[in-house]
Amino acid sequence: MQKMWAGRTSGVTDSIADDFNSSIRFDCKMYKQDITGSMAHAAMLGAKGIIAKQEAEQLIDGLQGILDDLESGSLEFDFGCEDIHMFVEQVLTQRLGDVGRKLHTARSRNDQVALDLRMYLRAEIDEIVPLVRAVLDAILHQAEANKSVIMPGYTHLQRAQPILFSHHLMAYAMMLLRDLDRLSDCRRRMNVSPIGCCALAGTTYDTDRRFEANRLGFDGVTRNSLDGVSDRDFCVELMSGISLLMMHLSRFSEEIILWASWEFQFIELSDAYTTGSSIMPQKKNPDMAELVRGKTGRVYGDLMALLTTLKGLPLAYNKDMQEDKEAVFDAVETVKMCLQVFAPMLSSMTVKPEKMKKAAQEGFINATDLADYLVKKGMPFRSAYKISGQVVAKCIRLGCVLEALPLEEYKAFSGLFDADLYPAIDLLACVEKRSSEGGTSPASVEAQIAYVKECLGH
Ligand code: ARG
Repeated sequence: MQKMWAGRTSGVTDSIADDFNSSIRFDCKMYKQDITGSMAHAAMLGAKGIIAKQEAEQLIDGLQGILDDLESGSLEFDFGCEDIHMFVEQVLTQRLGDVGRKLHTARSRNDQVALDLRMYLRAEIDEIVPLVRAVLDAILHQAEANKSVIMPGYTHLQRAQPILFSHHLMAYAMMLLRDLDRLSDCRRRMNVSPIGCCALAGTTYDTDRRFEANRLGFDGVTRNSLDGVSDRDFCVELMSGISLLMMHLSRFSEEIILWASWEFQFIELSDAYTTGSSIMPQKKNPDMAELVRGKTGRVYGDLMALLTTLKGLPLAYNKDMQEDKEAVFDAVETVKMCLQVFAPMLSSMTVKPEKMKKAAQEGFINATDLADYLVKKGMPFRSAYKISGQVVAKCIRLGCVLEALPLEEYKAFSGLFDADLYPAIDLLACVEKRSSEGGTSPASVEAQIAYVKECLGH
């Protein structure tokens, strides 16, 4: 079939070239944005007298009809079309005749696609945000249900100091709050309208870009027509934000996988979010968490793909930019799926306080507190650190924990040791004493929980 842009050329292209060139398979996702964008454009053309009012009305009705028919299923996409923009215009022209051919006045597919994509991704952000909030709610739920559970905190994956499990969870809450912040920041910068930039240079028609921007819910218009059609920062920013979000989910997944292992047994995932092995009957695998971790790499790939596509492009529009959509759609779809499974996986997992406590008791994680005890009795920290290390080595030789070493043994290391050392190295006391702002004491964690709730407007 002859292309709509036939003129300069015959418009007859090779069928393999057609398939290669075509984007309708994936940009058909944006049909709603394309049609509502066109309705605003038609209204503007009518309001400004560029076309007759009555023609504008016909176009708007025609476009509404296409939207309704697509949604009801009575109209199907024609995958022989080059892209969604051509498809809509083609159907409109078939239905309205010559009036349909007026829609593309004072517009180009270059500003049209930039408009559609901004509107589409803006709506996607509005879907992602509540999904992130649902994960935050699941975190809050587990933190509040297990407020005083003690676990070992780790560095280098070695038991380090006792912390509250709720404190550990709040660390992830802080990450996700930053993610929410980045998403809203990204949405704000995204929400300016490129329509009216036309092919690259603006237009000779007396258009009103702000009329269209207002109708379509934008906060303003892009300030330079070349930039308006060639800017894909909003895609890169969104994918960067999503990549960070995925990184957080991936780190959390890694911990959940560890915690669910027989070696840790800090948590048990609900059956609904685990799988069995086809051969080993004893298995309960944390596949969901592993997939979230795995899909993170895929999202990074999407981000890298677009950054690389854009890096050598001269202004303004180049067809390379058609590659933006599959990458950004994939990133958005992936993060939504991950968030959807993550929140219920988290809220349905069972926490095992006894296992966490046992691990906390066995790792000499109160050795810092033993050193601090000596410091409070006047010993310089470095000396106290050394003595505590020697006490730990002794306990390892004897096969006991610090709390079980008799006072006489302690006294052999330093005369400063007395019976009050035992309450000082009690795990709960160790936690309670870390009351610095942001620390692991119950009061501090309580404040963190309150902060997260406040940020979420609870
Ligand atoms: N399908 C194209 C894209 O996704 C639409 C813009 C086409 N513009 C052009 N000058 N060929 O980028």
